[in-house]
Amino acid sequence: VDRFPELADLAARENLWFHVDAAYGGFFLLTERGRARLAGIERADSVTLDPHKSLFLPYGVGALVVRDPRTLATSDASGRYLQDTDDLGSYAGLPDYGRLGPELTREARGLRVWLPLHLHGVAAFRDALDEKLDLAEEAHRVLRSMPGLEVPWHPELTIVGFRVRPHDSSPEARHRADEASRRMLEEINASTRAFLSSTEIDDRFTIRLTILSHRTHADRVTEALEIIAAAAAAVGGR
Ligand SMILES: Cc1ncc(COP(=O)(O)O)c(C=O)c1O
Repeated sequence: VDRFPELADLAARENLWFHVDAAYGGFFLLTERGRARLAGIERADSVTLDPHKSLFLPYGVGALVVRDPRTLATSDASGRYLQDTDDLGSYAGLPDYGRLGPELTREARGLRVWLPLHLHGVAAFRDALDEKLDLAEEAHRVLRSMPGLEVPWHPELTIVGFRVRPHDSSPEARHRADEASRRMLEEINASTRAFLSSTEIDDRFTIRLTILSHRTHADRVTEALEIIAAAAAAVGGR
């Protein structure tokens, strides 16, 4: 998680827009741990939030929230037949969504977010997110105990990064370790029981275990860790 307080200070100092891409992480704000880790997000001018990620909801409900709704007001939608709405995107005191985004006529996507919250209550979502945070911490603990792997970061939310540990600090050893990590990821995903992705951190190929599906519980994480351990052994830890 980027250091929001420092970024907010920088943006304020330089008169810059402060946007936070919280598409994946934003809803962890519902949890105590998430609130601590995302401190400073409240100073953003705009925040991307994807309820189809950390709120476990169906696709198509991605949101951009802004401090000042006038920021979203579009002047493109004009025409005499629209003369009853004002430029600030409101009509009779209610938000006019036709003026607050690219679509003039749109479906009630908010319903898909509101209804599950209404039916299950916020606590159900908070508990599910806390479960994923616990699972990520446990996965981190187990991965750290696997020989031949390096697991440099404690997960701040629910992504655990790991890779094959090089024999030494030479560029050749790092290259060989990255190749082994690539083979390891292929081996893991060939299981078709767990799907992991990868990224580059500090110029090193790094595997990402992301725990975010509402269907992912301890049994699935245990199985994934067994698959990872087998893959690590198969690539010889190098
Ligand atoms: C931080 C972040 N921003 C944006 C996106 C893109 O989201 P989508 O694929 O739903 O458009 C992702 C997807 O994983 C993400 O993690």
